Amino acid sequence: MNAQSGEQKMQWAIRHMPILSGIAEQFEQEQPFAGLNVVIALHLEAKTANLAYVMQRGGAHVAITASNPITTQDDVAEALAARGVTVFAKRGETAAEYKEYFDRVLATQPNLLIDDGGDLVNAVHFSHPELLPAIIGACEETTTGVIRDRALARSGNLAFPVIGVNEGLCKHLFDNRFGTGQSAWDGILRTTNLNIAGKVVVVAGYGWVGRGVALRARGLGAQVIVTEVDPIKAVEAHMDGYQVMPMLEAAPLGEFFVTCTGDTRVITAPHFNAMKDGAILCNAGHFDVEVDVHCLQDHDPEHHEVRHGIEEYAWNDKRLYVLGEGRLVNLACADGHPVEIMDLTFALQALSAEYLVNHRESLPHELIGVPEAIDDMASRAFLDSRRLRIDALTDEQKAYLGSY
Ligand code: ADE
Repeated sequence: MNAQSGEQKMQWAIRHMPILSGIAEQFEQEQPFAGLNVVIALHLEAKTANLAYVMQRGGAHVAITASNPITTQDDVAEALAARGVTVFAKRGETAAEYKEYFDRVLATQPNLLIDDGGDLVNAVHFSHPELLPAIIGACEETTTGVIRDRALARSGNLAFPVIGVNEGLCKHLFDNRFGTGQSAWDGILRTTNLNIAGKVVVVAGYGWVGRGVALRARGLGAQVIVTEVDPIKAVEAHMDGYQVMPMLEAAPLGEFFVTCTGDTRVITAPHFNAMKDGAILCNAGHFDVEVDVHCLQDHDPEHHEVRHGIEEYAWNDKRLYVLGEGRLVNLACADGHPVEIMDLTFALQALSAEYLVNHRESLPHELIGVPEAIDDMASRAFLDSRRLRIDALTDEQKAYLGSY
């Protein structure tokens, strides 16, 4: 694999990202980021490379690193560097390299940040506070990052506005649900090559990601069990037709487990004790803390890879299998979300970054939502790209609605 295969992957992605292509043409004319340094920390695969390139076409100097140590596609990183973007990322970074690459991209003196999971925003606040005065703002991709940035804002320490792109309707309704719904199964299917129909799949968490993963598991013919801590979401899962029970009760029944909670230690030793021989565990949440992989490693220091991306752990008299080291299965074991979904998500990222620049004097140092006009524009562009048309309110209907 080399820059040429990375370039091919990028061109395939670009061909299927018409919304971002339209935005790139507009950016090229208007140069909204002229003279600005943009630093990106995202999962570095072909769709992300396109976003970086679009920002560059808008006049930015772009430096990019990875938001996860094992999700970079090295050939794409090479291809992006060949297009003039500053890249510090490789697949399989050590913890020290992960930090070093953050330091190196941040050495480009950023004015705008595009973050996924909150590590970049945290790095400038706690490791490089000297950079804060030059930063106009940040865009955050994911639920976990939004939670971390909101906590920073609540503590009064957030030094610039952050747009929670994840809060955009065109993000979480489609990317978290249908994006992860497809890409998590893509990772599981590619890695295991096993049949899903008729199997028992346990989905932990029924937020947008869990809803998508459960929906597509059912579509593949699985019997789906949902575990939850939130009573409302548990009712929703029940009414959506899934079995609902605590993880300890689901543990002996499940053949596949997919964690989608964003929280820590969701599947731990008592669950491993209760599981069947051969149970397959993976995670679709941002951090690798949902399945207690450290506990499995301590229990079986001899654990080993039995197939690419599948680690086998002896647990008393049985074997348990973990996909992609318990990191995001869709990116560790596949190519991430489908291209068209990331077209919508990254359209929101690009337009939110432009919004930060255009409104730099007036935005509060808080976590703010995606402006409605951006969601509206992105959804209409998506419909156009699919040649779908919808109705418009008549004047009579507008007057009727306005009369309440
Ligand atoms: N590709 C790039 N970023 C991604 C993300 N956050 N989730 C899934 N696929 C992606």
